Amino acid sequence: MIIECPGNTRLQDYLLKQGIHLLTACAGRGNCGKCAVRVLKGSAAINTMDRVWFTEEQLSQGYRLGCQVYPGEPLTVDLLRDF
Ligand code: FES
Repeated sequence: MIIECPGNTRLQDYLLKQGIHLLTACAGRGNCGKCAVRVLKGSAAINTMDRVWFTEEQLSQGYRLGCQVYPGEPLTVDLLRDF
């Protein structure tokens, strides 16, 4: 499922407002990796927990932990599963 997320909004909060629930087995602490998404357009910072879960190649392809994405600009994101 591909979605457009506005900037300056926590991705997970935006999705909840749309009625979309990421898999968040660790309650968004970055410990489970279940919330993986892929940023297709726009920029999302890479944080420490992203580096735990993804290879450098995956990071360069836009993979991020959805629970950790706080975009400063609008993003196009593939949620990597259907809801
Ligand atoms: S919810 Fe567990 S890593 Fe994101």
